[in-house]
Amino acid sequence: MTQTAVEQLQIFLDVATESVLAAGAVLKERWGKLNNIQEKGRPGDLVTEADKLAEAEVLKVLNRHLPDHQILAEESGALGNSKSEYLWAIDPLDGTTNYAHGFPVAATSVGLLIDGIPTVGAVYNPFSNELFRAAKGLGATCNRRPIQVSRTAELSKSLLITGFAYDRRETTDNNYAEFCHLTHLTQGVRRLGCASMDLAGVACGRLDGYWERGLQPWDITAGIVILEEAGGKVTAYDGSPLDINSGRILATNGLIHDSLSQALLTTPALSEWKS
Ligand code: IPD
Ligand code: CA
Ligand code: CA
Repeated sequence: MTQTAVEQLQIFLDVATESVLAAGAVLKERWGKLNNIQEKGRPGDLVTEADKLAEAEVLKVLNRHLPDHQILAEESGALGNSKSEYLWAIDPLDGTTNYAHGFPVAATSVGLLIDGIPTVGAVYNPFSNELFRAAKGLGATCNRRPIQVSRTAELSKSLLITGFAYDRRETTDNNYAEFCHLTHLTQGVRRLGCASMDLAGVACGRLDGYWERGLQPWDITAGIVILEEAGGKVTAYDGSPLDINSGRILATNGLIHDSLSQALLTTPALSEWKS
């Protein structure tokens, strides 16, 4: 990479960092004081004033530094210059259900896709005070210290994490069968309700793998960069290159990738499940 390219990425990373820290301050400030919690459409898909206020902070920072870029923000939709090769995917409050219930696992996730490729990411959890950051080719850090994925090489010794999308009551493709199957094959499967922190958890070696369906680009763009730069692997369930708009992701430390992929692809239906 040329010096100029590195400097450019560092500028983008600084902007992403400034934006997640500003949003995180709002999430801390509004904590426990919500008076407007609404459902966005599907039952359980919540939005609060904290989501909107945090998003406004992120947009303020991006518009100040990079007004020509394109934006996809969870609460505001598509904004900015639709011809730009730079697309920022913003989740102002990842973990809204947790936040609304007072369960302190939530983060702001801001990722940059350049020509469709996740290239820069910042995820800030103001409750654990952890700031995860990465840019392609420049490594990944948590609170400015380098991070790396785990060395767990066997699925049977792994600790995984997953999630369940808001359409789970409307489809049998709701990840329940996969959850049972993988719970049986591993040391455990966690569900914390914050996709960006799930990916960050694999990136720093607390977890060995993550899969989920029904996701949006704003849930995963930043986390993908952080995980890949920490030495992890991100693909579709079958190991083929990830389509960020497909909603499905398989993300691991690399070592258990093939066995987790195989387990997902051979999951028995719940009706056939037996211990
Ligand atoms: C949700 C969380 C959750 C995941 C859902 C996401 P939100 O995001 O990341 O972990 O299971 O699919 O939609 O709605 O809290 O921003
Ligand atoms: Ca989200
Ligand atoms: Ca959100």
